[in-house]
Amino acid sequence: MRMSRLVYCSTHRELAPFHDLQDIVTTAQNNNAANEVTGVLFYGHGTFLQAIEADLVDVAKLHDRLTRDPRHYRLQVIESEPIASRTYDRFTVAHLDGGTLLDAPVVDQTIVARHTLGDRYTPYRLTAAKANGFLHAVERHAQRSLVEVN
Ligand SMILES: Cc1cc2nc3c(=O)[nH]c(=O)nc-3n(C[C@H](O)[C@H](O)[C@H](O)COP(=O)(O)O)c2cc1C
Repeated sequence: MRMSRLVYCSTHRELAPFHDLQDIVTTAQNNNAANEVTGVLFYGHGTFLQAIEADLVDVAKLHDRLTRDPRHYRLQVIESEPIASRTYDRFTVAHLDGGTLLDAPVVDQTIVARHTLGDRYTPYRLTAAKANGFLHAVERHAQRSLVEVN
């Protein structure tokens, strides 16, 4: 299998914010489990930061669908690279401030502060290394909080 990773950020277009967010997450979780896509989808302050790892053909197809999805805009690619093997264990969803809108773990502000560029979270200035470092920390945190809940 020839694999690749895409990391991007984008801004949520709030047409019907409540249903929208949960619909996006549910679709991503179902499709990614079926298509062996691993990575993290993180929602914070109205923006998405997502890493996707899969067969490179599947990543390209998903990238294409994402580009045409009207529920977000200002999609900025942070990294798009062939990879030798996966670095994310599974597909994880987490958020900073989706509140009760999202059936997903909440990430601690200290993790955000440690891995990003300051108090005011924005994904648009992240380098690939910082984005992946942050998303790996989110993955670890989310898996711990899921274990605690169950
Ligand atoms: C921020 C965001 C993240 C998304 N992440 C995924 C994802 O990880 N996997 C996926 O299959 N679809 C994801 N989607 C949904 C796709 O854009 C698309 O709607 C979905 O794959 C179904 O495409 P189709 O209707 O052309 O089959 C995401 C959408 C948004 C707005």
